[in-house]
Amino acid sequence: MNKFFLNLGKQPLANNYFNFYKKKQTKYNLNLFFNTKNKIISISKRIPSKKMFTKNYPYRSSMSRTMRNSFYKLSLEIKKKFNPNKILEIGSNDGALIKNFNKKKVIGIEPCDNLAKITSKKGILTYNNYWNFSLAQKLRKKHGKIDLIYSANTLTHISNLNDVFKSISYLLSENGIMIIEDPSLLECIKKNSYDQFYNEHIYLFSALSVKNLMNKFNFEIFDIKNLSTHGGSLRYFIKRKKNKSFKISKDVKKQINKEIKYGLHKFQTYKNFSKNVQKSKNRLLQILNKIKKNNKKIIGYGATAKSVTVLNYCNIDKDLISNFIDTTPEKINNFMPGKNIKILKYNKKILDKYDFAFLGAWNFKDEIFDKEKNFLKKGGRFIIHVPYPKIIK
Ligand code: TYD
Repeated sequence: MNKFFLNLGKQPLANNYFNFYKKKQTKYNLNLFFNTKNKIISISKRIPSKKMFTKNYPYRSSMSRTMRNSFYKLSLEIKKKFNPNKILEIGSNDGALIKNFNKKKVIGIEPCDNLAKITSKKGILTYNNYWNFSLAQKLRKKHGKIDLIYSANTLTHISNLNDVFKSISYLLSENGIMIIEDPSLLECIKKNSYDQFYNEHIYLFSALSVKNLMNKFNFEIFDIKNLSTHGGSLRYFIKRKKNKSFKISKDVKKQINKEIKYGLHKFQTYKNFSKNVQKSKNRLLQILNKIKKNNKKIIGYGATAKSVTVLNYCNIDKDLISNFIDTTPEKINNFMPGKNIKILKYNKKILDKYDFAFLGAWNFKDEIFDKEKNFLKKGGRFIIHVPYPKIIK
């Protein structure tokens, strides 16, 4: 049974940046539910993929040093531990992971034309398609079974999980490995980072729910790693149950026990989370309004999809945060969805004109603080809303 626990208000499509001030924008209710049986957290409103993952999709995996490093390190690990003949990546984005492998060994699947073009141009075989069973059939006919299937921050964006894993199971070789990584529900609840939810993030996984899901397909998690990316992610290493070539790491049980200890299997945990989210909103608005009263200027740092949730849930407009800055070419000179705050092109001097920077890309805090030492030295301040809203000197 799906039980409702949080209403994040009306939200526009998170990655739908307009290049003009668009007064009327379509918004959708963002309500969160807990499934008492399989422990999956999901949003109720499902937007067709074609509306969200378009030919001009603005999210680029390679935009941060943190993500580039994370993918590079994983590529070394995959080569050393699994040495696969063929790697297929579902949601290969701009190739941040697959570019680290021999081109002959990798296949990318990427529904967004602009991103698929980037990897194709690099000579990487890329299918400009959505992941589904008919594609899996086509691929098996053409390339045979695949021994390593990888997907980061993609499977939680696809509504029909049965089709997702049926298709993976069809294409994966008998001793094949599936590696998936996504934001961790435990970290999200601990950090009160409600901005992990937006229309694209249909699910938020935990080891508990992935274990339940995998059971249905005769898969099991044999190893798990906590990552610092995206505010705390989990990387799941998955195999078929009948494949005995890998021992099940103690870390799997450890993670599940940690999640149970924190109460991820109980509805009450989500009701508490919901109360904390409301408090977070009130506190953030207090901070921003106080700064505005003192006639100080705030810029948003990182025009993230996460910030779109925060802006629209807290009703923050350009009176409070006058602009955002970002390095992504697809976002520059566009407007934050739903709130029409203009995104400016990042340059090293831009922060000099502002007193405060709201850290929209809080998940890259270390990288950004390192880059913006001067802003802090000159008395600039960051505002962060996780785990609770505060000003950082
Ligand atoms: P991210 O937090 O990965 O994504 P999401 O949209 O899923 O919430 O996005 C980070 C954004 O911040 C991305 O648009 C790039 C931008 N960014 C900068 O502008 N400068 C930086 O130094 C870093 C690390 C990111």
